[in-house]
Amino acid sequence: MIGTEYNFDPMCPDLLRDPYPYFSHLREHDPIHRSDLGFWVVTRYADNRHVLTDKGFGQGDFVRNIRLFYDDDFDVLAQSSYAWLSRVFVMQDPPQHTRVRNLVASALSLKRIREMEPRIRELAKAQLIRFSEGSDSNFITRFAYLFPTLVMCDMLGLEEDEFSEELLLQLNQAVADTFPVFETRALAQEELALANRQMDFLTDFFDELFERRRKSPKDDLTTAMVQAGEGEDALTQEELTTSVIGLFGAGFETTAHMIGNGMYLLGSHEDQRNKLAADHSLAEAATEEILRYESSLQATYRTALSPQAIAGVEIPEGDRVLTIVAAANRDAAVFDRPEMFDISPREQKPLTFGGGIHYCVGAALARLEGKVFLEELFTHFPDFVVDINGAEQRQAFLFRGFSSLPVSLHSG
Ligand code: HEM
Repeated sequence: MIGTEYNFDPMCPDLLRDPYPYFSHLREHDPIHRSDLGFWVVTRYADNRHVLTDKGFGQGDFVRNIRLFYDDDFDVLAQSSYAWLSRVFVMQDPPQHTRVRNLVASALSLKRIREMEPRIRELAKAQLIRFSEGSDSNFITRFAYLFPTLVMCDMLGLEEDEFSEELLLQLNQAVADTFPVFETRALAQEELALANRQMDFLTDFFDELFERRRKSPKDDLTTAMVQAGEGEDALTQEELTTSVIGLFGAGFETTAHMIGNGMYLLGSHEDQRNKLAADHSLAEAATEEILRYESSLQATYRTALSPQAIAGVEIPEGDRVLTIVAAANRDAAVFDRPEMFDISPREQKPLTFGGGIHYCVGAALARLEGKVFLEELFTHFPDFVVDINGAEQRQAFLFRGFSSLPVSLHSG
């Protein structure tokens, strides 16, 4: 039972295990909640949309925002992981945000994504077959991460002789160790030191890649970014590396958990699994439902750029607002039977990909990866077995998923 004095805490173990009763409580009793941690928390669909799309909210003063979780004299930009985060375009307001986003958005246009579909399908099938032949049953590391990472490598133009599977796993781990800087809390000292080390590793890796493309250009996104860096509105080397790490990481960290969460949900909802097995054309709607029901990115945040009001509650300038899209996605004011996982097409779109000027630039790609994965899975391995009792959850609030999920693609 959640008491009336409930105070939102993203570290609470019960919340990490199952956040939805907390979201439901907040939506109903305290929709514009002021956490003792010093930020506001919004959970209703309409309020989330308002904060994400209204120009009165933006990213604001990065250093001040991070210091909220640490002491006032904490040297934010001396930490390479936070210094990186401060430069990533998702953390910036226009005009800087617009400049880099436009470049990235052109590489991820609907047309480009559609053209990539056959290759994405080939990768999904090949990786499923490899997984089925391997001895490691952890579906998260051995498929859910690898598949979207290979798609990102393809998109960036990384050739197979430029990476080994071991390097990919290292890059996956580096992103997983660095992305806690997005969380709305102070990181423990060792956690921050690890994030900094891993950020240095990612920076070196992508600096070298840009250097290679500068010397020998290819027909790929990496070369396009380098060449955009040579025009009038030049991107600096630092901007290039920052953006590509952001894109690379965003391109698999959330998608990996969409796939892992999807596998778990199908394993735990036999009726929905049977529905999809009987009609593969539901794969697109099923992906959307996985994203709604168990969003792999639970929340994002904004800063009030001037005094604002949300549903009549005054928000002073500079205050931070956590927009919990995963709570919005179960708002009964918008969704029928919001607490039910049901892959039949729904009318309303979830807020999983955010809204406004920062709306996920990779949404079409993520949706396509989800759909293709499900189609290939049900076509080639319809008897897959998910060991839901063996699942291990990640201990993270923002990026929700599993660290381990044993799966066998063959029955018996
Ligand atoms: C299931 C998968 C995904 C989810 C749930 C997701 C979610 C989101 C959300 C909620 C935002 C908005 C953040 C904000 O407003 O503060 C966002 C932004 C972004 N996403 Fe995704 N994303 C996914 C996949 C991807 C993929 C595959 C890519 C790249 C290929 C990508 C690249 C980005 C980038 C670069 C931004 C920043 C956009 C901007 O600031 O203008 N995402 N994503």
